[in-house]
Amino acid sequence: MPKIAVLTSGGDSPGMNAAVTSVARNAAYYGLELIGIKRGYNGLLGLQDGAEDDIFTMNLDTVLDLADLPGTYLRTARCEQFHDPKVREEAARNLKKLDVVGLVVIGGDGSFRGAQSLCQLGIPCIGIPGTIDNDLPYTEMTLGYDTAVNCDVEAVRAIRATSRSHDRPAVVEVMGRNCGDIALSTAEATGSEIVLVPEMPWSVEEVAVRLKKLVDSGNTRATIVVAEGAYASMKPFDAYSYLSPFGKQVFQGQSMNANLLASTLKHMTHAEARATVIGYTQRGCQPTARDCTFAFEAGNMAVVLLKNGIGNQVIGTRNNRTFHTSIDTALCETRNFKESLYNLINSL
Ligand code: F6P
Repeated sequence: MPKIAVLTSGGDSPGMNAAVTSVARNAAYYGLELIGIKRGYNGLLGLQDGAEDDIFTMNLDTVLDLADLPGTYLRTARCEQFHDPKVREEAARNLKKLDVVGLVVIGGDGSFRGAQSLCQLGIPCIGIPGTIDNDLPYTEMTLGYDTAVNCDVEAVRAIRATSRSHDRPAVVEVMGRNCGDIALSTAEATGSEIVLVPEMPWSVEEVAVRLKKLVDSGNTRATIVVAEGAYASMKPFDAYSYLSPFGKQVFQGQSMNANLLASTLKHMTHAEARATVIGYTQRGCQPTARDCTFAFEAGNMAVVLLKNGIGNQVIGTRNNRTFHTSIDTALCETRNFKESLYNLINSL
């Protein structure tokens, strides 16, 4: 029986288990044996404790129970060593020793770069874009993004309810690394009045002016959705000279974060702003139907490609259709940030 393998890599994302299940069902259907590799590329290299159990034949019965679970049953990891060409050669050798004819890599751009190298070393790889960040420009949506946005929308709605009760503005920090898509969609869907993203420069003073205007006009629960990466695009701001009743040291060396932003805005506007960091609930949520349907189709396409001897491809979705393109093309695409939506949210 020809063998294929699957691994999940990078930050986990809701829908990874559904994608593995789909790969397993399709492998069984096409008469392929499926090898599961735990803890991403680390498992392939035997880098983790208990490594002897990290490469195993996946049993369809076990896999079928995973489909709608959050997290990743295969575990995941980031593998720094994979930047070293010698380590990548070792990984390719290990796959060849296992007689694996193809590998499905479910992860983000770093994981795809690993897969690209393995393809160059003779291992056909197919990438499924598993990351909540939506930072892979070749696809309209990455696996887990829809779930993360829905999780944030639910949280922001709840925060806006209590904020309304107390007439308090809210600062809500969401994930996304260097990509503001989660923040943008969350702000759009919840009617939040301010959104801050890594792609656009912003200043605390401008935010304070807009917040004050909103509060003064009766919008006392105005919400600022801030992407975790947006502090990097903040224009220089001397928090201490505005804020500190205690002396210089108080904010020295402290970089901007959701709490500091809320307290700074409170000092500048006299509105009782409060901060919430949503955090890992965004990654550990039950996947939405949209993510699960993408996972189902991506798993099918990945196995069909490998079965036909085609590698060096990644799977994406565009205009509601699942498609594949070469890893090289996908990794060259540049992002097109929705600047007009950003401006609209921040001005209505
Ligand atoms: O890439 C997914 C992601 O969840 C990002 O949104 C976030 O910046 C990062 O991973 C956090 O990684 P870790 O959990 O390893 O700190």
